[in-house]
Amino acid sequence: MQALNSCIDQLLRNARTHSAWTDEPVSDHTLRELYDALKWGPTSANASPARFVFLRSRAAKERLRPSLAPGNVEKTMTAPVTVIVAYDLRFYEKLPKLFTHNPGMRDLYINNAALIETTARRNSSLQGAYLILAARAMGLDCGPMSGFDNARLDEEFFAAGKECEGCVQEFFPVGHVKSNFLCNLGHGDPAKLMPRSPRLEFNEACTLM
Ligand SMILES: Cc1cc2nc3c(=O)[nH]c(=O)nc-3n(C[C@H](O)[C@H](O)[C@H](O)COP(=O)(O)O)c2cc1C
Repeated sequence: MQALNSCIDQLLRNARTHSAWTDEPVSDHTLRELYDALKWGPTSANASPARFVFLRSRAAKERLRPSLAPGNVEKTMTAPVTVIVAYDLRFYEKLPKLFTHNPGMRDLYINNAALIETTARRNSSLQGAYLILAARAMGLDCGPMSGFDNARLDEEFFAAGKECEGCVQEFFPVGHVKSNFLCNLGHGDPAKLMPRSPRLEFNEACTLM
């Protein structure tokens, strides 16, 4: 029970959204470990539509800067890593690999743009949450953000012909990857945190039927 409590403390009760960062770096090895953990979170038909772009070089951050809301610039430029949590609108092409016991699932999506969009957004949001929880479990702090210009970011990072260091390139050239939200990663400075805001009580957010 004590182990469970300390687990929930680390992932949720004591974990905060951070905007100020220490100098401690986050290695590429840690980012690979992070993906290798979050990838096991469930998605519908195991479709795994999220795509993650880890921006950790100055040059990559500068490409992001013009898309950011003014209030998100400083915290993002100083974070050791910023993740673009994105989704691939052609995720269904990988279903024969990912959902082997029912390869026909791919055909459910083809020519159904509304289902593709809903599935990709819902599940990439979930995968972004898995990223946050996995990062916290590994001792990292997170700062998720939706305050940015999605269309501008998508043009900069996911439009035809754009480069991505070390990526499997197939999802970049034709522009079918879209941004969902951003998440800064690093080691937060607890001294710079604002007081914590309350949450809704059980009876405000839940009902028992
Ligand atoms: C999807 C998402 C988008 C957010 N967008 C922003 C943002 O653009 N800028 C910002 O400063 N904080 C942003 N936040 C941070 C929230 O305000 C913060 O997580 C919330 O107030 C809870 O804070 P706490 O984790 O410290 O309790 C965002 C959080 C999430 C999950």
